[in-house]
Amino acid sequence: MGLHRLSSVVIGVPNVAETARYYTDFGLAPVEPEPGDDARVFRTRDGGEQLRIVETPFRRLVQLTIGADDHDDLGRVTEQLTRLAVPGGHGPVEQGPDSVTAVEPATGARVVVAITPRLDQPHTPATPYNGPGRIERVNARAPGVDRTGRVTPRKLGHVVIGTPDLAVTERFFLEGVGFKLSDRIAGAGAFMRCSVDHHNVLALRAPVPFLHHTSWQVDDVDEVGRGAMAMLEDHPERHVWGLGRHHAGSNFFWYLKDPAGNFSEYYSDMDCVVDDQLWTPETLEGAKGLFNWGPPPPPSFLKPEDLGALMTGAHAAP
Ligand SMILES: [Fe+2]
Repeated sequence: MGLHRLSSVVIGVPNVAETARYYTDFGLAPVEPEPGDDARVFRTRDGGEQLRIVETPFRRLVQLTIGADDHDDLGRVTEQLTRLAVPGGHGPVEQGPDSVTAVEPATGARVVVAITPRLDQPHTPATPYNGPGRIERVNARAPGVDRTGRVTPRKLGHVVIGTPDLAVTERFFLEGVGFKLSDRIAGAGAFMRCSVDHHNVLALRAPVPFLHHTSWQVDDVDEVGRGAMAMLEDHPERHVWGLGRHHAGSNFFWYLKDPAGNFSEYYSDMDCVVDDQLWTPETLEGAKGLFNWGPPPPPSFLKPEDLGALMTGAHAAP
């Protein structure tokens, strides 16, 4: 028993309607809003309601919700977070009937751990690939070249946050919430998981707290490519970085940019850690911390163009 999934994310943007149109294009399914609710809510194919967009003066991560199995898990998380709630640490731990909430002190993001059913994704048959001496696809074109429908992400995979205090953010997630460390980027970041996926949260050292990207699982590398190409067709300005393959997590990636400045990633083929004792975290040096192959990352990938404005906004915020 324990933590088992990244359930949902709430992102704040100044331009809700425009940003909502982007995520509709991205392949998330808009949910009919509740009367009086100004937020825009989206579903994935397998993960249910996983994205909520609300209005804030500047773009930021508002909330992450993590799924846990039972009240024993909540009790443990409460105890761990309370132990960390020292002066200068996060604020009070709020206990609901089926959840625990605390604010991560370095970024101001609210983190909710809630009792949630496990995500049981339907088994998808392997895409047949031909290789040297291995003909798996006989007398047929590759399935990826025959697809015509819009790419629709299966689930929210991970969220990446810039933090001005990496040690504090790491401690909050690892020792407080109970994430596990998967890998580190030397001096710059920590890949952490609350499910079998290699990472559900990556905390990156940054001069100001900000949402770097959200990442959405698609079926395979063809869907990564098809999804990105469809997004770029009338909007070349959305391109950020791709196609490539990461080293940490091994996933194929393509990053695009929403109209508020947040990146969103299509990914497939992420490493899964099923037996914790069989995974040894590594500290990745140099380019490996970023990627294994692909075009060189643009400078704006690590230092988004609005970072200066975000610093001003963050300092002006109450
Ligand atoms: Fe990512």
